[in-house]
Amino acid sequence: MEFATRTIHAEQPSEPGTGALVAPIFQTSTFEQEAPGINQGFDYSRTNNPTRARLEAVLADLEGVRCAAVFASGLAAEHAVLQAWLKPGDEIVVPIDVYGGTYRLLTKVFRPLGCVIRQLDVADPEALSNGLSDRTALVWIETPTNPRLLVYDIAAIAVAAHARGALLVVDNTFATSLFQQPIECGADIVVHSVTKYLAGHSDLIQGAVVARDASVFEPIKFLQNATGAVPSPFDCWLTLRGLKTLELRVLRHAENAAAIADALNGHPRVRRVYYPGLASHPGHEIARKQMTGFGGMVSVELDGSIEDVVSFVSSRRFFALGESLGGVKSLICHPARMTHASIPEGERAKLGLADTLVRLSPGCEHHRDLVADLLEGLHALDGAPTGGRVALTV
Ligand SMILES: Cc1ncc(COP(=O)(O)O)c(C=O)c1O
Repeated sequence: MEFATRTIHAEQPSEPGTGALVAPIFQTSTFEQEAPGINQGFDYSRTNNPTRARLEAVLADLEGVRCAAVFASGLAAEHAVLQAWLKPGDEIVVPIDVYGGTYRLLTKVFRPLGCVIRQLDVADPEALSNGLSDRTALVWIETPTNPRLLVYDIAAIAVAAHARGALLVVDNTFATSLFQQPIECGADIVVHSVTKYLAGHSDLIQGAVVARDASVFEPIKFLQNATGAVPSPFDCWLTLRGLKTLELRVLRHAENAAAIADALNGHPRVRRVYYPGLASHPGHEIARKQMTGFGGMVSVELDGSIEDVVSFVSSRRFFALGESLGGVKSLICHPARMTHASIPEGERAKLGLADTLVRLSPGCEHHRDLVADLLEGLHALDGAPTGGRVALTV
């Protein structure tokens, strides 16, 4: 079955009792038992719920495996993976560009527990090899990264991690299962902020863990029930609904991102465009190798002051200023003041995270409206010419 067909048909038969084409929402906390301990596979909705189970089966299928667990948020999913596989005294290797919330979870929750966080350039094989030791339990990457859209070679990093007995976790939020299959590339665990493209409509918070097999998955599944950060059946149902258009939406997001990157690249008010689809992007070749599309995100470093950036991001017509990404309605974000504000200023500078960086999450609107809105905003900064790049290549 092709991907788009799986998003609609995999693990989603019509409901046997009624023939309902769309499964009902099992909005129940508990299940009646025939006799103590005798039930139909469900006893309590923190432990398992039919709507959540259906979503988990679909998400596993979309990553080509059988093990998935859905959580109340992406960070709850990350927390379960870390708690299951990172013990006091263990080391974890993370790249220089990592989502601010992951950084906060590691440095403010797991470091005080005695875990050692090694942040290094995982794209440099020597730095990676020097950073790994027999105490490394996990290597954790995002690719493309948030917010600079750096691309890391999953297969190469998996080989290096496995050689030291570590597991490789890939945050696949930005690429989605449509464009990237980390487990096929050698990763052991995939995490998603389902909140973003998978659910796709900016109307819920949810996370998922997908694992290559039961040996890696069971400790995580245990924590899902033991710590209880589960999503509601209604939110699971909304995600199942959103997944049915995953391919349609993500292809449109990617088309819009490409148009924006093309229009802003070389603009006099733009110092740099971060988009893996540009041939000049340092990770372009790796992206071509391990992804089937370049994703829906674009980040740009503006040439201007912080005030310019604030004015630009606050006055767009079609890009709402807000945290998050991956919804049908476009969003714009100023990472230094928003998503990545939890990283201290000095640290941000060291990581190459400019204070004038703007992150764009083009939605599913028409690319001509989105591009025109951005060019208008750049023009308004000081009447700079639009650069004559309104003509699109997609
Ligand atoms: C790459 C990435 N991973 C994880 C998360 C955390 O997900 P959530 O906000 O659903 O907890 C985010 C949130 O922005 C993210 O961008």
